[in-house]
Amino acid sequence: MAGVDKKIRTCYNLIMKEKNEPYRQDVAFIDRDKELSDLRLFVNRRPSEILFIHGPKSSGKTTLLYKFLEQIQQEQKVDVKFMDLRETFTNVYDDFLKTFFNIETHGEKKESRASNINIGFFKIDASVEKKILEKRADPFKVMKAEFLELTRKGIKPVLIIDELQALDKIYLDNDKDRQLITALFNFFVAMTKQAHLAHIIIASSDGYFLNTVYNDSKLKKCSEFYKVDYLKKEDVMEWLLNLEKYSKIKDYTLTEADAGKIWDTVGGSMWEIQNILSHLFEEPIDEVLHLYKKKIKGMIEYYIGADIQKEKVLRVFLKQETARLRDFIAGGITPVEIDHLLQNLVRNNILYFDPTEALYYPQGKSYQWGIKLYFESIEK
Ligand SMILES: Nc1ncnc2c1ncn2[C@@H]1O[C@H](COP(=O)(O)OP(=O)(O)OP(=O)(O)O)[C@@H](O)[C@H]1O
Ligand SMILES: [Mg+2]
Repeated sequence: MAGVDKKIRTCYNLIMKEKNEPYRQDVAFIDRDKELSDLRLFVNRRPSEILFIHGPKSSGKTTLLYKFLEQIQQEQKVDVKFMDLRETFTNVYDDFLKTFFNIETHGEKKESRASNINIGFFKIDASVEKKILEKRADPFKVMKAEFLELTRKGIKPVLIIDELQALDKIYLDNDKDRQLITALFNFFVAMTKQAHLAHIIIASSDGYFLNTVYNDSKLKKCSEFYKVDYLKKEDVMEWLLNLEKYSKIKDYTLTEADAGKIWDTVGGSMWEIQNILSHLFEEPIDEVLHLYKKKIKGMIEYYIGADIQKEKVLRVFLKQETARLRDFIAGGITPVEIDHLLQNLVRNNILYFDPTEALYYPQGKSYQWGIKLYFESIEK
């Protein structure tokens, strides 16, 4: 049987090659009309606050930002500077200069994830570069001068910092870097709330860290939180019942019951849905979903290891989907330990912390399954 399957697959691959279609599954982009229109509203108001985009791991924050930039650059005169902190950030000052001023690779075009987006640098000549490197010129003043110049020309400056959570460790461990990051945020407040010069958007999947930076930099009343969550059920169903339209999958279709099973396993988590779809070329759906849940249970088990306290924290989610800080205290762990554990769970993307509601919850339905199956297995 496996031999026959293999022959069919080889044959299929040859046909795909002839038709010049290199992929049997494409990357989908579902819905986001509401989010795109909210972002458009944000840049159509004179800048007056920093926008913090938060949401669980892989909820589509970066994809949404790129989509938005692609649209807005076609509609309006905007100048986009995009700082992706995922590209290792070790020395905050130098890396910050490199990213915004392109100091090392002067003149080269900055690469972006999507080729149709134009991402720029702050423009400086060699003498200013030298002064900045020798710390004789203030990079913030250089940035402000460019914002002013762009605004004078009728161009809207948009500055985006993505994956802020990458600074988490540096921020907590190093006083000097913390001061610099705080100075950067104070500059952002000056550029938005006070001078109304530039749109500043900051995105992160670590709501806990966002909240820390937010509190430390006294950003209250100078900024707004905006949540980008996993997809809603109706959007997931629309996607799964129209695979050819959204994912260019022609090999199979799903029934409503199949689509419901996928929703039940991973909810609206797009990356996980794409992953499951890719396995359905080879395996029956029930098998794929069973193995998927087992894998997530294994991840929870690996994370907990022999740490009873982590187990206690996660046990809370057997009875409830979301939890507040006080819900964990009943487990007999001290408040300091709880804080530490929760921070660790958020940093490891097991739990999500929603900073607007001060709520903790597992990162998606698959982790809810993982937690449930883990406790079922130890209580057997
Ligand atoms: N609207 C969408 N429809 C379908 N798939 C999407 C959508 N948005 C994002 N994805 C897919 O979800 C995955 C995660 O997207 P993305 O990297 O944008 O998330 P993120 O929230 O920025 O992640 P992180 O938390 O790691 O920063 C990608 O594989 C992407 O293709
Ligand atoms: Mg991202």
